[in-house]
Amino acid sequence: MTEGRIVIIGLGAVGRITGALLTEKGLECRFLDSREDHQDPVRYTCSLFPGTLGERAFPVTILPEDPREEAPALYLVTLKSWMNEEVLTALRPQISRGIPVVMMQNGMGNTETAAMILPENPVFPGVITAGAYRKGDLAVYAGGGCVRYDRPPILGDLSTPDLPWIRDPDLPRAMLLKLAANAVINPLTAVHNVRNGELLERADLQDQVKEITGEIYNICHAEDPSLKPGELEDYVTGVISATAGNISSMLADVRAGRRTEIRSIAGHLLARAREHGMDAPLLSSMNQAIRSLEKEHDQSTDSRS
Ligand code: PAF
Repeated sequence: MTEGRIVIIGLGAVGRITGALLTEKGLECRFLDSREDHQDPVRYTCSLFPGTLGERAFPVTILPEDPREEAPALYLVTLKSWMNEEVLTALRPQISRGIPVVMMQNGMGNTETAAMILPENPVFPGVITAGAYRKGDLAVYAGGGCVRYDRPPILGDLSTPDLPWIRDPDLPRAMLLKLAANAVINPLTAVHNVRNGELLERADLQDQVKEITGEIYNICHAEDPSLKPGELEDYVTGVISATAGNISSMLADVRAGRRTEIRSIAGHLLARAREHGMDAPLLSSMNQAIRSLEKEHDQSTDSRS
């Protein structure tokens, strides 16, 4: 069993679900936040699998970390990918040296950014596929979740029946597949304003899923030629089905008028496509559409201020 506290950096939907399940398992969870006005205990209800037979809900309280205490066992980072630099730099003085930091976010480049900011901590990726969203004081876990990791081994102790932590020695492959799933699901759900499951229910959306998955397969195959035809399609379809009731993180961001993770997802893949001399027209137009939605919101905010 893991000795010591687990500190979560980023109490969005995924951070809250992870924290709730670890707390329920009896592990001590705390949070670190760089904002001075966000230092009170965080209280919410964790709602698991609403609308299914396994549905249940329980209250959760997560206390702020006190860096004057003995060092924790682990840091789990569940920030939006574009927040890494600012938040980790601000928190650096409070992060104990030598303690493992696990980056559980969408998109690519998270581990590299954290390793630069925290050179005295071992930094590892953790690939999470949970479908989670927030609705007021509820953190809803819509399903589909597991976390894949390779190191450190203590992550295996965090496993629960609702969120298994699975050791996967081929983590680069798991990261590539997760990136591909995010590049298909997130922009399409955000542009069409639909839950994940509708991507497989509506014929027009099924066509778009197929088309964009084909484009992404070509890019991913150029990155990792051992990727087999059908493997990526099966994976993406599996994630959509397992998280059918979820509001994707990008749709939640667009609805809330927040910046999205499009740059570290579609932006990353389009940059790799350019390197390989490939076109990905639908991915490219989804990338543009999400950026336009972000701009529209910026303009409407500017015109209100
Ligand atoms: O970003 C998300 O919403 C999630 O990573 C996923 C797995 C696509 C489920 O909605």
